[in-house]
Amino acid sequence: MSQFADTLIAWQRAHGRHDLPWQASRDAYRVWLSEIMLQQTQVDTVIPYYQRFLARFPDLASLAAAPVDDVLALWSGLGYYARARNLHAAAQQIARMHGGRFPQSASAIAELPGIGRSTAAAIAAFCFGERAAILDGNVKRVLARHFGIEGFPGVRAVEQSMWALAESLLPAQGVDTYTQSLMDLGATVCTRSRPRCADCPVTGSCVARQQGRQAELPTPRPT
Ligand code: ADE
Repeated sequence: MSQFADTLIAWQRAHGRHDLPWQASRDAYRVWLSEIMLQQTQVDTVIPYYQRFLARFPDLASLAAAPVDDVLALWSGLGYYARARNLHAAAQQIARMHGGRFPQSASAIAELPGIGRSTAAAIAAFCFGERAAILDGNVKRVLARHFGIEGFPGVRAVEQSMWALAESLLPAQGVDTYTQSLMDLGATVCTRSRPRCADCPVTGSCVARQQGRQAELPTPRPT
């Protein structure tokens, strides 16, 4: 299965996004903050919030020490405020339970409030080079289309098989670039509506493309 990953890695180097502010750092605190902000918010909206947040809270210790209301004030306008409360709670948990040092493995990161399996894997891959698979909504769409996976991904069995597939696709080397390539492909090429298949590096092996079923995959929620 390394052909898929190798092709995406080469594409990411040539065509992916390289200039996003959080890509300048492998600091887990910064990468974590960016991933949380990006969960429900577009890149262009996130950037000024991300920069203001870091100016006020440059590191974990400053975030952990702050009143939660200061954190919420900086989040004002981004929405989904549970993200900000969880961020603050996680910073305090890291201070208490990890001696202020960001945990270094996907499984330990996933124990923190507000961090699910996919976000934990992204942080571990970007910051520590761990071979951990991501599976967010964009990646589910890419995999469902490319490998022709049927079934609503919200169904547990479908999601489980997608996790297994995502893990089987991980490259031996370059998991950080591969992880970013999946995110960028899903955000810029394999979009929900009107995917730009002509610009896709793996279009030649895409089941949905071969069958003209891009609009049908992933399978929508049953009604
Ligand atoms: N969306 C979620 N994580 C992202 C990242 N690291 N880069 C760009 N968009 C993202």
